Amino acid sequence: MLRFTIRLLAVLFTINVSYALPYEAPSSSDFHPLTSRLNRRATALDYVSYATAAIDQMQTWYSASTGLWQNAWWTSANVITMLADFQEYFPDKAEPTTNSVFPTTLSNAPTSAGNPGFINGFYDDELWWVLAWIKVFDVTGDQQYLDTAATIFEDSKNAWGTTPSACNGGLWWDKAHTSVNAVANELYLTAAAKLANRRPTTPSGGYYYNEAIKAYNWFIGSGMINSQNLINDGLDLANDCVNNGGPVFTYNQGIILSGLVELTWASGDSSYNELANTLAVATINNMTDSSGVLHERCEPNGCTPDLEQFKGIFGRNIQFLYNRATVMPADTKTLYQSFLQKNANAIWADDQINNQLGLVWSGPSQSATIQTQSSALDAIVGAAAVS
Ligand SMILES: *[C@@H]1O[C@H](CO)[C@@H](O)[C@H](O)[C@H]1NC(C)=O
Repeated sequence: MLRFTIRLLAVLFTINVSYALPYEAPSSSDFHPLTSRLNRRATALDYVSYATAAIDQMQTWYSASTGLWQNAWWTSANVITMLADFQEYFPDKAEPTTNSVFPTTLSNAPTSAGNPGFINGFYDDELWWVLAWIKVFDVTGDQQYLDTAATIFEDSKNAWGTTPSACNGGLWWDKAHTSVNAVANELYLTAAAKLANRRPTTPSGGYYYNEAIKAYNWFIGSGMINSQNLINDGLDLANDCVNNGGPVFTYNQGIILSGLVELTWASGDSSYNELANTLAVATINNMTDSSGVLHERCEPNGCTPDLEQFKGIFGRNIQFLYNRATVMPADTKTLYQSFLQKNANAIWADDQINNQLGLVWSGPSQSATIQTQSSALDAIVGAAAVS
């Protein structure tokens, strides 16, 4: 028995390592072992049908001529990412939409929005598009998307470290230099880690890996992760760049998670992945209600359109952890799965009218926007991909 256990562990360890390093394009068999697919097929099918119906509704808000949904710029990058996530696990359901949407948005969005090359005044906006096109590359294998992501990334790379000297590095939120925030810096870390795994020797060895490590070390040293393992909004430029004590936004608890997992793939150092689990569990414990439903602190009446988008980004990253993390205690994995299922169930039961999904996932349902729709869809696609 003992010898068997050791041999089993050795097999598992081998699988684990070869799966983790270096980055490999995912294949659907990696994610859905046959047994779990058979055991839970009915549940997954339900979530897939919710997702399909809500995506069909969402497409009534898409303009092929602008390549955008309701003309919302960074939101549309997140819609692309959500659709690519859906395609990763359920390609036959996603491709009727994405076969035209991916190339149309790539070609039309920059011109229609007046942001040539996906470049505008905000580094976070630019990096959302970097993540979107990396994800599209992952599911299509089409090199032009990865090349686009790498080109957009250069604008942020060139600006990294031009912050006030008290900040000791980091990336401005904007080109007007009004603030230094968690969002752009988490996005930078995650984009760099993902590029490092997909272009390990292009344009030169370690080109992106070094940026990811630099961004990680800076972020940890910045003090933005508070004593409860929650991430505040940003730094106080008037006060030596200390943690500004600003709002704990759900998206800031999510963006960094997939970057940390990929940093473990790139380095072989499990501590990044362990930190991702620590941060994710802290947020699930702190920002959900007694039914396990995630809330933005501005709910129900204080959220701007931008804030309406945030929760899905956390959910999307929990799905990534569940399926792709290489360091994953069994109870943590169960927590992630039930988090996504509870939230998707709540959305469909209490926050949905005619396939339109509102802001507050526990209901009562309110009118939907592209932000609330795509955010809730991230949770539903996430539940489908873990069920
Ligand atoms: C969540 O964290 C905040 C601080 O960010 C704290 O005030 C609050 O008590 C925490 N809530 C729970 C339920 O842990």
